[in-house]
Amino acid sequence: MNICVFGIGYVGLCASVCLAQLGHNIVCIDKDNKKIENLKNNIVPIFEPKLNELILKNKNKLIFKTNLENNEKNFDIFIIATGTPTQKNGEVDLSAIYNVADEIIKNCKNNSIIINKSTVPIGFNNKLQDYINAKTNLKLDVISNPEFLRQGSAIDDFLNPERIIIGYKSDFALKKVLKMYKALNLKDEQIITTDLNSAEMIKYASNSFLALKISFINEISKLCEKTNADIEYVKKGLTSDSRIGKKFLNCGIGFGGSCFPKDTKALVNIANNYDIELKTIKATIEANEAQVDYFINKIINFYKGNIKDKTFILLGLSFKPNTNDLREAPSIKIIDKLTDLNANIIAYDPKAKYDKVKQVNKINDAFNDADCLIIATEWEEFKNIDVELLKKLKDKVIFDGRNIFINRNLKKYGLKYYCIGKNEQQN
Ligand SMILES: NC(=O)c1ccc[n+]([C@@H]2O[C@H](COP(=O)([O-])OP(=O)(O)OC[C@H]3O[C@@H](n4cnc5c(N)ncnc54)[C@H](O)[C@@H]3O)[C@@H](O)[C@H]2O)c1
Repeated sequence: MNICVFGIGYVGLCASVCLAQLGHNIVCIDKDNKKIENLKNNIVPIFEPKLNELILKNKNKLIFKTNLENNEKNFDIFIIATGTPTQKNGEVDLSAIYNVADEIIKNCKNNSIIINKSTVPIGFNNKLQDYINAKTNLKLDVISNPEFLRQGSAIDDFLNPERIIIGYKSDFALKKVLKMYKALNLKDEQIITTDLNSAEMIKYASNSFLALKISFINEISKLCEKTNADIEYVKKGLTSDSRIGKKFLNCGIGFGGSCFPKDTKALVNIANNYDIELKTIKATIEANEAQVDYFINKIINFYKGNIKDKTFILLGLSFKPNTNDLREAPSIKIIDKLTDLNANIIAYDPKAKYDKVKQVNKINDAFNDADCLIIATEWEEFKNIDVELLKKLKDKVIFDGRNIFINRNLKKYGLKYYCIGKNEQQN
């Protein structure tokens, strides 16, 4: 099929490449000229495992452009994957989608369909359909197909989804979407078809529930520290109950990224518009914001409030491993707070770059003249750091926000080890 994707960010680029891999011809449109020029020259703007290889492999099926030329009207399907940021007032900014819709209307043939992958407020795709119908006499059906890929494993997630959600109004459009995904060989039960509004709600409800699980375990972990309970045992006991499940119950310094913080806030705001207070989701957001502060305070309290001129190594900048995405990363809050108190920070991250902090290219270089180590992201590379490096820390102290050293018994090397959900005496 001939497919045109608008918005070549994390979702749009991964989706385009995977759809090319499934055999489709893809025109990728992004208004960011630099990004498109780079992609034309095989410079990939994001880090995502397997992405570069798949782009090269499918080069003949991928065209990168900043806009569609007039009369380029041979697309069966348009996909929208532009950003939908939550604004300060809680409203979702949908302007990019309307801009794209205008572009599509100018460049579509009759009976093409629009698949919206962007996360949008409940009811929006119906409004988008009305907006389009008011502007053209052509039949152009909107489908809501929220995306569930996870940064860090986006390619595998797209090509092996647990399920796909398709919100639709027209059977004709549904058939076309199913044809687009046919090569995934999904079982019937992996394809969940709904109305447009329910599909939009599924996306927000899924992200909010996952965020809630994280905030829940983070709060329990705090209480473990105070009550001499051990989060490792607690987690084992808790997650062996199949009603609870094993996933998304790792404590840490809170969730970040471009989705959970934004989507939880958006859902609370959507509910407010209907005079419904989503108390659990509001608490999820509040607990998440408190979690990183709690961790930062642990560090500051260790130094009795005086961290001036102390040098901290910060391992991990990205909001999670296997991505270079810094959006809403807890590391940023840690950097801001500690530098406000006149501490020095030397950061290392395998892929992410942040120009507001001094960064080294090799992990060993960070340890030359540092007092203390902070772990902010659980990159695999950090898990087996040589203990001889750790012993070089002048203050012999480690604050592990992701519990990656929890089983290394660092105490026996004379190191003080603070993690999440286990107090220092227990380590
Ligand atoms: N990032 C994720 O893991 C993820 C997962 C599932 C769903 N989503 C949702 O998918 C959507 C996209 O997220 P993302 O993280 O890929 O965003 P992103 O910010 O990485 O990419 C969005 C892209 O859209 C481009 N764009 C904006 N306006 C445009 C226009 N008028 N025409 C063409 N391009 C335009 C931007 O230049 C940018 O490259 C959001 O609604 C998000 O909530 C994201």
